[in-house]
Amino acid sequence: MPTILAQLDAAFRAAIRQAFGLDADPILAVSQNEKFGDYQSNAAMGLAKQLGKKPREVADQIKSSLNLGDVASEIAIAGPGFINVRLDPKWLARQLASVEHDSPPLASSRQKVVVDYSGPNVAKQMHVGHLRSTIIGDAIARVLEYHGDEVIRQNHIGDWGTQFGMLIAHLGASAAADQHIADLEDFYRRAKKQFDEDESFQTKARSTVVRLQAGEKSELDAWRRIVDESRRHFQPVYQQLNVELRPEHERGESFYNPYLADVVCELKEKKIAVESEGATVVFVPDYENPLIIQKSDGGYLYGTTDLAAIRYRIRELKAQRIIYTHDSRQAQHFAQVFWTARQAGWAEGVALEYAPFGTMLGEDNKPFKSRSGDTIKLKDLLDEADERALALVKEKRPDLSDEQRKSIASAVGIGAVKYADLSKDRTSDYVFSWDKMLSFDGNTAPYLQYAHARIKSIFRKAGEFRADAPIDLSTPHELALAKHVLRFGEIVELVARELKPHHLCNYLYELATKFSGFFENCPVIQSDEPLRSSRLVLCDVTAKTLAGGLDLLGIQHPEQM
Ligand code: ARG
Repeated sequence: MPTILAQLDAAFRAAIRQAFGLDADPILAVSQNEKFGDYQSNAAMGLAKQLGKKPREVADQIKSSLNLGDVASEIAIAGPGFINVRLDPKWLARQLASVEHDSPPLASSRQKVVVDYSGPNVAKQMHVGHLRSTIIGDAIARVLEYHGDEVIRQNHIGDWGTQFGMLIAHLGASAAADQHIADLEDFYRRAKKQFDEDESFQTKARSTVVRLQAGEKSELDAWRRIVDESRRHFQPVYQQLNVELRPEHERGESFYNPYLADVVCELKEKKIAVESEGATVVFVPDYENPLIIQKSDGGYLYGTTDLAAIRYRIRELKAQRIIYTHDSRQAQHFAQVFWTARQAGWAEGVALEYAPFGTMLGEDNKPFKSRSGDTIKLKDLLDEADERALALVKEKRPDLSDEQRKSIASAVGIGAVKYADLSKDRTSDYVFSWDKMLSFDGNTAPYLQYAHARIKSIFRKAGEFRADAPIDLSTPHELALAKHVLRFGEIVELVARELKPHHLCNYLYELATKFSGFFENCPVIQSDEPLRSSRLVLCDVTAKTLAGGLDLLGIQHPEQM
């Protein structure tokens, strides 16, 4: 089912075409003030200029050509030439009745979209820096999928580079050689220490890289072991986070090795890359430092790999849109890589989009660190979320079994961490606060989860109801709730376009708030039929919309809390 906005857009476009013989954007938006209506078109002012007419006159002409059928109960012109539309409650009720039988895709054309997110570095513990990329990227991937796009998740892990000489040489000499590496960070630190302190080890590390790059079996085996060990650390974190990244989504830096020489060669041939001080670089307008794609010793860099990845994603994966959710500190890197790819002609008709995010801060407004000043391991952070949530649930629900409480707590704890992140505009920094994110009041995961569970409990009390009961939207609370439920698709489209999950969070928060308004003012179970069933249907679509929205954020919604 097309969204209300899409239906109005089509009708307004047709009216403008009929009135003036031109194709113009009706510039529709949800009304800021309910007094004037539900949706507003702001097209008349611009069109008036273009046509040399008075805005009100243009608005009048659009209005008289407008055929909204039974959609609107009122169309009015206000101010300089705004056209306000009020939706008809009976029409809304019918839309609502079809909403649950209806499923995506919303997208008029299905796109192939690559989402590049998470990308931890091998042999390093994942830290909070990877948290944002992982959960924002995952939410975007889920929204795009629901939207109807074909999503290809790509986990661009850092699994290649000169540091592997050091790591492999250290592995050979360490106790971890024939067992699992318990602490990756520690393993890395020790290898680095040995490298810094021991000259003969340095020589060994350097020759090891050369053998690795030449594809020697024993070095490759050791490298693979280190990558596998790393996966043993980050895969459970994805699981705990309820993030849809699996080994098959991994296409690490090493994957692009065979393409690097050719990428440099192509860019040189096209005169995009040039020699500079012995290195091969791309000078990108407006950037002081060029993008280096090959060092003077022949080595390739992070940017070379990203260029190979773009070319591969477009040529082989046939991506039409490529999205990168990574730290805003990588802005220059992606700007230079995108420019180079476009200049090379690889990205004809392909959208390359960088969706950056700010820093996670501690309550002291400084980058989030542990009390001792160390970076916090993601695993420890998530375990703490579980523990804190469990304490909360124990307090609230002494009546439940341990097992029930555990499962609710893991939904609440991880949900709180994810929601606190997703609910802020990703471009800004945000303060990580356990107390705020775990609060049952305000725009938090527990608040939404609780709202959802509360509706579920209504059904446990209500028993049977007629799901196909006619819906009656006669009170302002019912009407407001129904209109908001019906905006879900519009919000999905907005998130799919802007890649900002906080729009969805705000929407869900408002939904829960509108539901409260309805529930406090409109008796549900105590009402007589047919009103009782009508209101239960409203409860039902609200619960489904809340659950569906939380699903898109990768947040669980327990049946009871
Ligand atoms: N491994 C990188 C890091 O930890 C992130 C990878 C981002 N993806 C990419 N295609 N460059 O910073």
